[in-house]
Amino acid sequence: MILVTGAAGTLGKEVCTQLAEKGLSFKCLVRKTSKTEALEKIGASLVYGDVRDMVSLEKAMKGVTQVISIHSLGIQKKGITYWDVDYQGNIKLIELLKKNGGGKFVYVSALGVSLEARFQLYKVKQLVTNALELSGLDYTVFKPSGFFSDFTQAAGFIKKRGIMPAMGSSENRVQGIHMGDLAYCMIDSLFNEKANKRVFLIGGPEALTYRQIAGIYEKLLNRKVRVLPIPTGFQKFVGFIVDTFTGYRYDILGFIDAFSSGDSTCDNALLHEVFEIKLRTFEEYLGAFLSENKQN
Ligand SMILES: NC(=O)c1ccc[n+]([C@@H]2O[C@H](COP(=O)([O-])OP(=O)(O)OC[C@H]3O[C@@H](n4cnc5c(N)ncnc54)[C@H](OP(=O)(O)O)[C@@H]3O)[C@@H](O)[C@H]2O)c1
Repeated sequence: MILVTGAAGTLGKEVCTQLAEKGLSFKCLVRKTSKTEALEKIGASLVYGDVRDMVSLEKAMKGVTQVISIHSLGIQKKGITYWDVDYQGNIKLIELLKKNGGGKFVYVSALGVSLEARFQLYKVKQLVTNALELSGLDYTVFKPSGFFSDFTQAAGFIKKRGIMPAMGSSENRVQGIHMGDLAYCMIDSLFNEKANKRVFLIGGPEALTYRQIAGIYEKLLNRKVRVLPIPTGFQKFVGFIVDTFTGYRYDILGFIDAFSSGDSTCDNALLHEVFEIKLRTFEEYLGAFLSENKQN
């Protein structure tokens, strides 16, 4: 039995949909407040809990031999930190899987994650990978670039105004990934011996500048699209003010450091050695997205 944490989130829903399509037995860890309509629609089995609550995790982990860990706090809140959710939550799951007699743990980290990163979430994600390496469990870690779904969050605005905001310089290169491709590799890694005890960088097939992304929008929307770079200096100024007044709760400066300070690209060579996959391009993703969201 597979347990998927963060199942109701953006990537979680995609992973669960593919697990259901493959006819695999899985259950989804969701919270009482999670939006579960999509999971219910595919007939997924839901277990209610919170990764901060050991009792609920013990219940959720009954009979589980494979964990796909996708949950993540996103933004720290008063009294809830990356340490509680992203670190301790995963450490509890690792311990419970060991208690169950061992098994496979698939974890989603992120491109750029390291102990040296300024962004607290990225430090914590590296500590989880380190814990997996020492756990004795079978594991696979994925370090994906930004999801294509992030590049379409402003699609309505771009279509209406012909302006595409960009983090930092318009010449910064990003190598976004189709979430469906990431989900495919994560599920395959449960059964693929060659993926065991390995860490994979995963980005899409092309590294694009923001200007090139705007060009793809232009082509598919059939209208002029201008890049509006938000200078890193300005972002840092705002981040400094917010961080100072909120006691670094949101770690905006860390976030800016992770997402705005240059190229975000990777080499997929190891990925292609282990997984048989043709990675989809941003143009393919955007084409499908725009035809599904014609009204926006
Ligand atoms: N988005 C990207 O471009 C990107 C790029 C690289 C890596 N990643 C990584 O990929 C993973 C998934 O990203 P995503 O965009 O799918 O995130 P998301 O949509 O924010 O989903 C996060 C999930 O975690 C759950 N969660 C949060 N706190 C929890 C808690 N205390 N107990 C149990 N569940 C909890 C949330 O539950 P609710 O549904 O109840 O809110 C949600 O389902 C994250 O680890 C992220 O860092 C993302």
